[in-house]
Amino acid sequence: DKENQLKPRPPVVTVMGHVDHGKTSLLDVIKHSHVQTSEAGGITQHIGAYTVNVNNKKVTFLDTPGHEAFTSMRLRGAQITDIAILVVAADDGVMPQTIEAISHAKSANVPIIVAINKIDKPSANLDRVKQELLDNGLMPEDWGGDTIMVPVSAKTKEGIDDLLEMVLLEAEMLELKANPNRKAIGTIIEARLDKGKGPMATVLVQKGTLKFGDNVVSGFSSGRIRAMIDDKNKQIKKAGPSMPAVILGLSDVPNAGDLIYAVEDEKTARTIADKNKESSRESRINTNNRVSLE
Ligand code: GTP
Ligand code: NA
Ligand code: MG
Repeated sequence: DKENQLKPRPPVVTVMGHVDHGKTSLLDVIKHSHVQTSEAGGITQHIGAYTVNVNNKKVTFLDTPGHEAFTSMRLRGAQITDIAILVVAADDGVMPQTIEAISHAKSANVPIIVAINKIDKPSANLDRVKQELLDNGLMPEDWGGDTIMVPVSAKTKEGIDDLLEMVLLEAEMLELKANPNRKAIGTIIEARLDKGKGPMATVLVQKGTLKFGDNVVSGFSSGRIRAMIDDKNKQIKKAGPSMPAVILGLSDVPNAGDLIYAVEDEKTARTIADKNKESSRESRINTNNRVSLE
């Protein structure tokens, strides 16, 4: 009867690719808003999480930075994702972080849809990009392979609907499900200390429903959720599977990539967090001992 508890859930789609190939710009078009222009220097520093409605179906998108310094975020993005959109600029072609993104998605067994972006540019060369992708293990569908590659432009908005259609098709085939009626388990997408509000964490819920007032634990951090905000900065009371939410109420800033889960009560949460702290301290002592013996 656990099977009966499983309900369809939205796909989690991570947008990956080399720096400046247009990930945030594409997401911006998808959201019909203007996040890209408000970013400092147009460089994505963190994983943004947004849920949008595509033909009345919810899709959660995670933006990732393409800068080489952010390898761990691309890795994390691949681990929590159902589908990867690999953005490759049609003028620039396959670059180091393109190859890295392919390998993260492949090792996480995540299906890849390629968005060949910036096709509005005079220097765009679709065949060259496809050949480079082929050289890196992705065979275009129209060349007899099984990787869908959609030419798009975030500037002219050409191809965006096709791209979204492919995402929905792929999501349908995956038959994604989760039980919303259990205590929540999710992943910390990003976290920081806000001077006024204290530790703030963006959580992607994976199973169950995260609720206002829930007692949660993530690594050393625990607490009772005293506020929840959605991706539109609106106060919410709960977030189900595949939904992102910013939460307040944690004792410490948790680590991005760590799990977060709801437990019975505040005491249980604190006990688990203390145990996590203790075992981390012990392993550090062991490591130090090992180092000093060597
Ligand atoms: P990082 O987050 O720093 O890795 O970059 P990104 O992949 O999110 O790229 P971003 O959206 O910041 O775009 C980089 C630059 O390319 C910006 O100047 C955009 O205006 C430009 N750009 C993005 N998409 C297109 C496109 O389709 N056509 C053209 N001509 N320019 C584009
Ligand atoms: Na950029
Ligand atoms: Mg970006």
